[in-house]
Order: sequence, then C-alpha cells, then structure tokens
Amino acid sequence: MKFSKMLVAGACGVAALVAYAGGTPDFVKFPAAYDATFTNYAKMNRAGSAAVAKMYANDVALASYAKGMPAAPGSKIVMEVYKPEKDAEGNPVVGSDGVNVPADLAAIAVMERRDAWPSDLAEADQVGGWAFAIFNPDGSPKTNDLTCVVCHTPYEKQDYLFSHQKLVDFASR
Ligand code: HEC
Repeated sequence: MKFSKMLVAGACGVAALVAYAGGTPDFVKFPAAYDATFTNYAKMNRAGSAAVAKMYANDVALASYAKGMPAAPGSKIVMEVYKPEKDAEGNPVVGSDGVNVPADLAAIAVMERRDAWPSDLAEADQVGGWAFAIFNPDGSPKTNDLTCVVCHTPYEKQDYLFSHQKLVDFASR
C-alpha cells in the first residue's frame, strides 16, 4: 500500500519531535491475558510487508459491532505482528489460507477506546476516543518511530480500524 509507506516516511521525519513515539503506554496498558480472553477475528499479511498480523477484539467491541454500533467505551483491539516463516531462499512461506505462515511474535499493538481519557493525554495522541500503544511480546512498552494516530485518523467512517469490515462480519456471524 503506497499510501501507508508515504505516511511511514512522514511519521519518521517528525519522530524526533514527538514525545511519545510508539503510542502512549502510560495510558493504554498491555491487556494481560488477551490471548485467552479476546477473540481472534482476522489474520492477514501486513500492507507492504511480509509480516503477518493477527487481530483480536474484546467482548465489549464484539458486542458493539454485532449490534451494528461503533465500538463502545471499554473496547480493546489487539494486533499481534509476526515475522513470517522463511524458506531456504529467504522467501516467506505461504500457508494454505494464502497468508504467510507466522513464526516469531515481534510486537503487540493495542487500541483502547474510552469515553474520556485523563486530561494529560494530548489530543494529538487520541482520535475518536481511541488511544494507542505498542508492546514487546513480554508486555514491556516498545518504542518505534510511528505516530499511531496519523495512520488511523483517516478511517473515521470505519471507526478508525483498518480491519473494521472483517470485525463487523465476524461479530455479526
Ligand atoms: C503507517 C501507517 C500506520 C501507523 C503509523 C500505525 N498503524 Fe495501526 N494499522 C495500520 C494498517 C495498514 C493496519 C492493518 C494491518 C496492516 O496492514 O498492517 C493497522 C492495524 C492496526 C490494528 C488492528 C486494528 C485495525 O485497525 O485493523 C491495531 C490495534 C493497530 N493498528 C495499532 C496501532 C498502534 C498501536 C500504532 C502505533 C504504535 C499504529 N497502529 C500505527 C497502519 C498504521
């Protein structure tokens, strides 16, 4: 996706000026035991990359989308990012579902929606009630150069989620 690569380049250019690159883990905490309590609703190759994403939603989000409503406050969405399995030539191995086979878990990205965040969470670090953070597999905050809000903001019509339609379809089943 050319569009997201452009935004990555743009976000990296200003990263030095952003206090909280990689989201705001002081506000969005690592959702403990999400793999046991959230529901996996999608798996896909990441746009413009060989990495594999597995998406999970908590019950609040699932119940909202099942009713055709935007995600209610308390909704949490998790995206696990995996490095793909590679063949002898170093190419990603494609599974029978057409998606690269996930190998090593590299990062866990989280979005959480609230009615209102504490006033010290900057407006620029939230959109539509959603705030963001990214973690290492052990749950410690991960720093990167991405300003999460920038890429998700244009998706207002789909509740700021890229995988919105997959989640709505899954929740309505
Ligand atoms: C360069 C644009 C970009 C930036 C910056 C970005 N995202 Fe995303 N995000 C995406 C795309 C595109 C997807 C869909 C999966 C994919 O192709 O990677 C996505 C998916 C997600 C999802 C799964 C729900 C959904 O929207 O489908 C979560 C959770 C998420 N991102 C969190 C974050 C967090 C946390 C950050 C900051 C550390 C962040 N994102 C920064 C582009 C971005």
